[in-house]
Amino acid sequence: MSLSHLATSTLPASSTFTNTLHSKVQTRSNIHVGKRIAYTSCEQKQSKEKEDHTIDRRNVLLGMGGLYGATSAIGNQGMRAIGAPVSPPDLSKCQLATDSANGERVNCCPPYTTANVVDFIPPRKEFLRQRKAAHKLSHDEIRKFQTAIQKLKELPADDPWNYMQQATIHCTYCNGAFDQVGFDDVLLQIHGSWLFTPWHRYYIYFWEKILGKLIGDPTFSIPYWNWDAPDGMYMPQPYLDTSSTLYNGNRNLDHYSALLDLDYTFGAPNPTPEQEEEIKIKNLRKVYNMFTETIGSPALFLGTPLRAGDAPDGAGSLENMHGTLHQWTGPVAIPRHDMGNFYTAARDTMFFAHHANVDRLWDTYSDLRGNKAEFNDPDWLEASFIFYDENRKVVRCKVKDCLITENLGYTYQTERHPWKDVKKRYKKLVRGRKRSAGEGISLSPVSEFGSAPRALDTTIRVLVPRPKTSRSKDEKEEASEVLVVDEIKIAHGESIKFDVYIAKPIEGLVGPELGELAGSFVRVAHSHVKKATESRKAKIELGITNLLDDIEAEASDSLVVSLVPQHGDVIIGAVHIEHFESDM
Ligand code: C2O
Repeated sequence: MSLSHLATSTLPASSTFTNTLHSKVQTRSNIHVGKRIAYTSCEQKQSKEKEDHTIDRRNVLLGMGGLYGATSAIGNQGMRAIGAPVSPPDLSKCQLATDSANGERVNCCPPYTTANVVDFIPPRKEFLRQRKAAHKLSHDEIRKFQTAIQKLKELPADDPWNYMQQATIHCTYCNGAFDQVGFDDVLLQIHGSWLFTPWHRYYIYFWEKILGKLIGDPTFSIPYWNWDAPDGMYMPQPYLDTSSTLYNGNRNLDHYSALLDLDYTFGAPNPTPEQEEEIKIKNLRKVYNMFTETIGSPALFLGTPLRAGDAPDGAGSLENMHGTLHQWTGPVAIPRHDMGNFYTAARDTMFFAHHANVDRLWDTYSDLRGNKAEFNDPDWLEASFIFYDENRKVVRCKVKDCLITENLGYTYQTERHPWKDVKKRYKKLVRGRKRSAGEGISLSPVSEFGSAPRALDTTIRVLVPRPKTSRSKDEKEEASEVLVVDEIKIAHGESIKFDVYIAKPIEGLVGPELGELAGSFVRVAHSHVKKATESRKAKIELGITNLLDDIEAEASDSLVVSLVPQHGDVIIGAVHIEHFESDM
């Protein structure tokens, strides 16, 4: 399915809001009877899991006394699910967490150790709260928000609603305060997999509801940092006023009036006024590529599957892009508290604006897909978390209940696709750049990656064969071409960034230019392993179907892939190209 089709057919352009809402809710409430989405085919997936020696974790959990309930949703789906959904932590078993930037042990346990956990029931839809862009808030709206935050800060320190307690929830789920239930060698971790977007959706949802409760206004909505639109590519003003309750001094002060660069790496200088237009176009194009390259393969956008007992290994393109915002907002000096380190990130109110935008981009993605559920897999739909809600109850929230924002009583006031026409603008930019580049480039030989892992301490350039050349339009719609940088070994919980470029080889040789950026691996400091001596494997999967057209490499039987280290130590195990079947 082409983007132009998506953009015209699914935008609520002429329909009234109620109509759009009605059809959205209808479409997505059917997810259980829908066809299983093939990420890879069932057989492929099963044999892959067998190779991994994955046991049926559902049996383990059932054997442990039914911590995970009956799985009726699996019955008629045609394939027995292997694994089990990740379940909420055992509150009685909280342990010290780790500030992974410096190895310090920290207490991120909730202020309660037992709870009568009840199932979350999505609110009755009496009205829709509308989240607005932070840079467009009125004075009254800013004042109201400030008052709500003030009240949150004034609550007793051990009140689960308290400002710091709310911030600590992020550490609880990111820095190892709990093991996964039934697997005492695996930390509960909601980054780096398909749990990333639903967990954060619930997290900021309850934060919003609690704030509304504190000011006695159930219509209260939190703002979003509209960083995907040119006007929003700055730190939003309401958070920069030092006398405001929204202010936080632990940020990169150099960025207070700087234009955001979605390619930012620690220490990079701010764009000069002459560069601003170009950076805005590049930012928009990054966002455009993020959507268009992933639309038929949700794992590319949202992250790879994570089942009970597994450690996460693959953030999606949305999470990687979001990591850059953390690194750009937080201070450069280690330990990068607050925004630059997951342990403390949510101590900055800007975190919630940032995540409201991440949430909004997920909503946009869903919309572009006609609200087809991203994974019709019980291990995603039934995965659950617990939160302390606005009624002072501990609620168990399932992924399947948060797939439509309207069912949670909110929506976004937004221009949905500020990147719509960026392709033309980018082409113009590149043409200008090529004209000014010098003549007579020298070509050098380049070899394949080989089988031995390589430290990414200097740029690695390799030739990567493509499974198929000259794919037809239909073939491209049936499967995305995906560049996989695999077996990435990360030694510590530190911040990491490296960039991945692709270029067309010239008769097996390569020029000095890196080519086009296919994506970046961006990791914000957080814990991922139980013991400090272990290391973890991760991967990044990048859709390149459209990019290949852009660089006119569809007929090429291989690509030159360049891995450019920007920050942190990693070892790369493999680079290859595969096809991911589209579910559209
Ligand atoms: Cu839980 Cu922006 O991270």
